[in-house]
Amino acid sequence: MATLAAPPPPALLDRGLEVTLDGGARHYFNYYWLRDNCATSFDPETRERVYDIFAEDTPPRATRASVIDDALVIEWAGSGHRSTYPLAWLGAHAVAGPRPDPAVLPREYWYADHYPAIARFAFDAVSTDRATLKDWVHALLTQGVAILTHMPDSDQGLTDAANLIGFPRPTFFGAYFDVRLHIDPDNLAYTAKALELHTDVPAEDLPPGVQFLHCRRNSVDGGESLFVDGAAVAAELRRTHPEDFRLLCETTVPFYNEHDAYDMRARQRVIELDDHGDIAGVTMSQHMADVFDHDQRFLDAYYPAFCRFGRLLQDPRFVMRFRLNAGECIVFDNHRVVHARSAFVAESGERYLRGTYTDRGELRSRWRKLSGEGRFSA
Ligand code: OGA
Ligand code: ZN
Repeated sequence: MATLAAPPPPALLDRGLEVTLDGGARHYFNYYWLRDNCATSFDPETRERVYDIFAEDTPPRATRASVIDDALVIEWAGSGHRSTYPLAWLGAHAVAGPRPDPAVLPREYWYADHYPAIARFAFDAVSTDRATLKDWVHALLTQGVAILTHMPDSDQGLTDAANLIGFPRPTFFGAYFDVRLHIDPDNLAYTAKALELHTDVPAEDLPPGVQFLHCRRNSVDGGESLFVDGAAVAAELRRTHPEDFRLLCETTVPFYNEHDAYDMRARQRVIELDDHGDIAGVTMSQHMADVFDHDQRFLDAYYPAFCRFGRLLQDPRFVMRFRLNAGECIVFDNHRVVHARSAFVAESGERYLRGTYTDRGELRSRWRKLSGEGRFSA
């Protein structure tokens, strides 16, 4: 009977070793990387790395390596320390590049007709039921927008909702904001005027990732909400005008927000790509775009691209238009969803939205834990 030949043993090289993994291919692993990621490097309690590779006097080097019971076992020069790496674990790290992240879910683009299909969840249900909370987070990651219904008519209601998926994230105007008529407004939002399609607070270094707008009163004539899936629009621009798309991805433009007590400035890319080259987000705000400071001849190309994208955002194919009702809280990805409101008649009633932000990092963390696919959950 033919016997399968045993795979060749690990080969010790100068700066790393080669080992045969499942499937029979030889893979190279660097000694620093192996030593740094020995299971004993991590504190079981905090799960953080406590091994200090900077303290090694000489570059790590293996004196022996063998495969025992589907694991690579290494003995290190100097210390004699033994490290054990399951071959399956090495296999999962054998190919360079960002590892699959359970919180990177395929985006479901939506269009003007999305309103009846928006994911809706009762505030009580997301507060008390883990499965509903998970569905809400899923909707935010895939669709970028969801509505909480039956919100308590209180400030605490918004705080409680935000705490379910992150931490209320302050910006330069504080942890919460009240969108209603202000005397001496320092922001268009606090007037009865229309607000053009925008993402919020691009003048912050890191504009907040998730936005909450809790509608407490809305009895005015006008004041409709307009929401657009900016990622869907960016994908359309990439398809129809790839050169414009490239300019918007590669160029940072300045944004500002300046008044008596503050002078915020930051540069953003109108379209952001992730490490895979996929559309990660958009930033748009005409009312907060600073005077562009680029070479004027470059602007010959940039401005038409910027305007084409701005007009495409307004295309009726993409704009979802509806009235936000008292008791609803719309929650959306501020790096993906572009929003606006139509002008309203100030004397016709009362309009009051209370808002806050959280960040996308905490939202993704929530998903990894709720889905049981986190780093240490396997
Ligand atoms: C804002 C905003 C929307 C609205 O305050 O940034 O977009 O409906 N408000 O008033
Ligand atoms: Zn806004």
